[in-house]
Formats: sequence, C-alpha cells, structure tokens
Amino acid sequence: MAPGKEKLRLLFHFAMVFSVVLTSALKTLDSDQELQDSGFGQPPPRHGLKLLVWYVQDCLDNNMRALCDPIKGEFGFHWYRNIQKLLPIIKDKKQYKYYTIGNLHSSHAGDLPFEVKEYYNRSDPKSNMDRVLVRYNNNNKRIDQIYASAHYNPKETYIIGPNLLAFLRQQPGIILNVMFI
Ligand SMILES: *[C@@H]1O[C@H](CO)[C@@H](O)[C@H](O)[C@H]1NC(C)=O
Repeated sequence: MAPGKEKLRLLFHFAMVFSVVLTSALKTLDSDQELQDSGFGQPPPRHGLKLLVWYVQDCLDNNMRALCDPIKGEFGFHWYRNIQKLLPIIKDKKQYKYYTIGNLHSSHAGDLPFEVKEYYNRSDPKSNMDRVLVRYNNNNKRIDQIYASAHYNPKETYIIGPNLLAFLRQQPGIILNVMFI
C-alpha cells in the first residue's frame, strides 16, 4: 500500500474511533441558555421542560433527598435498567439505581401536575417522548444525578449540570407558566 493511502486509512480509523467516543458521551447542559438551545422538551406538545422544572422544584429537598419516591412508583416513576447503556454503567447495583419519569401513559402519571400533562395526546408520540432520569442512592435516599432525555435517544440525552440545576431550583413557580410558552 502506498504510504499516502496508509496515512489516510489511519486517519480514517482515528476519525471513526473519535466519533464513536463523541457520540457515546452525553452532553452536559449547565445553563438556562444551553437548556433552551438544546431544544429539550419544547415546544408543546412536548412536555419535558415542564416535567424537568417540576421535578427539580417539587421532588427534591435542599439536600437532594427524594421527595417523590421512585421505588414506590410515585408519579409514574419506574426502574430504568439501562440495558442500552445510555447512561453510565452502575457498578454498585445495590446502592444505586436509575429511575425514569415522564411516561404519561404509565400508572400514577395522572398525579403529575396539570401543566405537565396538558398537551398529552395518545395519538401524538411527540407529546409523550420526554423523560427525566435520576440516579438514586438507596442508602441515603438521595438523587445524585439528573438526566433529561428525548425518548432515550443518546443524541438527545443530557446530563443536567449543577449550575443549571441550581438555576431551575431557584426559579419561583412562575417558571411553569411564563418562561417556556
Ligand atoms: C392528537 O394527535 C393527532 C395526531 O397527531 C391529531 O390528528 C389530533 O388532532 C390530536 N388531537 C388533539 C386533541 O390535539
């Protein structure tokens, strides 16, 4: 093989490896702007943005303790097995588990606030595609990571960074009514 071709082949190989690494790493959203720019959960009938805001404001105390019990399936929570390895692999499976919320079709999802369910339409998959995923620490009942996902598509799954989390938690209740219209 000509040296030029060999170089090209290597370059191609590295590009492939690199792109695999890039696509498997989840993006972090760490500001309101990044959240808006991501397009996650909006506009209606998508419900993810309202779901996320509601979750961080109403389902966590100041120490990130879970107020909405994922184990009991409150608000439609259920165990997310992470079979597709969408999220980082959990090594200590006794202590940590992922849970997902947002499927408006699941039982107890009816307990979600009206704003979150408002545009739900069984014939329109877009209205039910968004999820919030959490990593739950079974020992101290705390949530130590939050993810937002458009139906578990890796390219539309995001880590919610600490600054964005703090921002969303600080906003008064009006956020649901005003910010995302
Ligand atoms: C529900 O979605 C279907 C399919 O997109 C649409 O034809 C119908 O008008 C929607 N219904 C309501 C009440 O928005």
